[in-house]
Amino acid sequence: MSQDVQGPAHPSGEPETHRAADTTDTAGRTDTPDAEPEATRRDAGTTESSRANRSWWDRNADEYQHDHGVFLGDDRFVWGPEGLDEEDAALLGPQESLKGLDVLEIGAGAAQCSRWLAARGARPVALDLSHRQLQHALRIGGGLPLVEADAGALPFRDGSFDLACSAYGAVPFVADPVAVFTEVRRVLRPGGRWVFSVTHPIRWAFPDEPGPEGLSVSASYFDRTPYVEQDEEGRAVYVEHHRTIGDRVRDVVAGGFRLVDLVEPEWPAWNAQEWGGWSPLRGNLIPGTAIFVCARD
Ligand SMILES: C[S@@+](CC[C@H](N)C(=O)[O-])C[C@H]1O[C@@H](n2cnc3c(N)ncnc32)[C@H](O)[C@@H]1O
Repeated sequence: MSQDVQGPAHPSGEPETHRAADTTDTAGRTDTPDAEPEATRRDAGTTESSRANRSWWDRNADEYQHDHGVFLGDDRFVWGPEGLDEEDAALLGPQESLKGLDVLEIGAGAAQCSRWLAARGARPVALDLSHRQLQHALRIGGGLPLVEADAGALPFRDGSFDLACSAYGAVPFVADPVAVFTEVRRVLRPGGRWVFSVTHPIRWAFPDEPGPEGLSVSASYFDRTPYVEQDEEGRAVYVEHHRTIGDRVRDVVAGGFRLVDLVEPEWPAWNAQEWGGWSPLRGNLIPGTAIFVCARD
């Protein structure tokens, strides 16, 4: 992102404003601009956010998987750049309890987490908005069910799943998280769990830089105006939405869930790897990821 516009810790790991390359996707659609998009803070509704992010992830999936594929692993379930593994955290429940469960992974990307779940005997379905991300899931393989859909309109019957999970998928990008949570609740069976990770809200108050310049507050934590990158015509080409911690708790409750835990992973000594604005330097001082563990009673 540009230096003068404060925004989120970007999942692409690019601290600069993203270049929206002129590409043709696999469906033959030609997508947008040659010019560097402008980074700004302005309102962006559900439809604009969804459309912008779908095409952004289609254009950038190759680079994302190239840059982060080794860290993500083909069948690792990692909750964020700190490297907290579900293998150790067991936020979905003990590993031995996963066998035979129907699990929905939302914003699955290349479905690395779903592959980890399948290896433990669960029956995951990997859902993502981006066609290109799901092509990477196909490339890696594993024979998982893949569904191209928006998290705000889940194409499943009520009570189809025992668990739902998302590692940085969908939730940071949607204008109406309560609508997503309500959908997730609908497709979960009573007694189910919904566990999702997002950029820790406090990061929105700091520059998205891994070094010392990322340690000084530069924007209001309380400013909920979305971070938007837009083309020359003012059309959004990338959107992220900020909610404070309190907003997220209220959204979880409004979506019909009970909050069981809020995990803020600490940066472990073994992890020397930077991911965009996430770094050992900052990770040792301020949280970078928030993981919400929610129960569907
Ligand atoms: C940061 S990536 C995370 C992918 C994967 N969970 C991982 O850890 O690599 C965010 C993913 O969310 C997907 N996404 C964004 N908005 C979405 C939406 N409204 N519905 C479903 N998926 C969405 C993107 O296409 C992208 O694959």
